[in-house]
Amino acid sequence: MHIQGIDEITFGASDLATCRRFFTDWGLTLLDETQQQLVFETLNGCRVRVAHGDTPGLPPGVEPDPTLREVVWAVGSAAELDACRERLRGQPGYVDDGQRVGCTDPNGLAVRVQVTRKRPVQLECARTNTWSERPRVNRPAPAYERAQPVEVGHVVFFVLDLAATTAFYERCLGFVVSDRYPGRGHFMRCAPEGGHHDLFLLVPPIPRKGLNHVAFTVRDLHEVIGGGMHMSRCGWTTELGPGRHPISSALFWYFENPAGALVEYYTDEDELTADWTPRDFTPGPTVFAEWAIKGGIDGHTRRQVNAEAPSGRFMTDKPKA
Ligand SMILES: [Fe+2]
Repeated sequence: MHIQGIDEITFGASDLATCRRFFTDWGLTLLDETQQQLVFETLNGCRVRVAHGDTPGLPPGVEPDPTLREVVWAVGSAAELDACRERLRGQPGYVDDGQRVGCTDPNGLAVRVQVTRKRPVQLECARTNTWSERPRVNRPAPAYERAQPVEVGHVVFFVLDLAATTAFYERCLGFVVSDRYPGRGHFMRCAPEGGHHDLFLLVPPIPRKGLNHVAFTVRDLHEVIGGGMHMSRCGWTTELGPGRHPISSALFWYFENPAGALVEYYTDEDELTADWTPRDFTPGPTVFAEWAIKGGIDGHTRRQVNAEAPSGRFMTDKPKA
């Protein structure tokens, strides 16, 4: 049994109008809208729900709203769902409605598993010419006016008991640890083969439970930049980025999210197999981001926030000082 990634997430929030505007600008497609909830999807059918905090049946959050209330993980078949059922039975908060089985993880989060509703997507992505490989021939690289996230790639939570929460995901869902901040954080992937992390569990300096961020996978670096500049033009606030994580190698851009904590555009994370040996790191700013732009790039000037807008046709239009 292998979990295939995130199939659906549900935020609990109160200001649905702002969340509607935010996730539409973020590049999700609105599928359904009622007084009580919004349902969006990514390009591959991964669902993002934003529900009013008082919605009947909505699992409790690990912190006050707005926050993530539920994560639904994907399996490939009914037989794999049965295998999950056996592993999760007896866990605290066990639920089974036939289509979805789940429980409450040791951090208090509602975890569910279902046969995936995501669909395979074929997308044209930028190819990078390097010194040793030149795959892009007679073709310019793309530029994006805005992003359209492919899927929800990972979720990151502040946890109180790192060891117990890690053990739950290993034992009950088959996750493996990719890299560690010993005693402070575990990057975990759903299966031995896959992207660097689907879940990151983190103990903050002042311990608390909560959501840190939800990350959306986009096609390539150019979409991270184009998407981030669009969000900037729409008036949303950058937390940090664009930048690059040394752990996972991913390129990122984080924004403040009205549905809770932060959201991230990211791309180009490391792909791992069972041959990968987890590494230990000491937390620090340069381990989190090799480099990053604080405040982001202004989508109008297309320069660092608070930098002067460009003028003239070329940089060389400026008179020599
Ligand atoms: Fe992330």
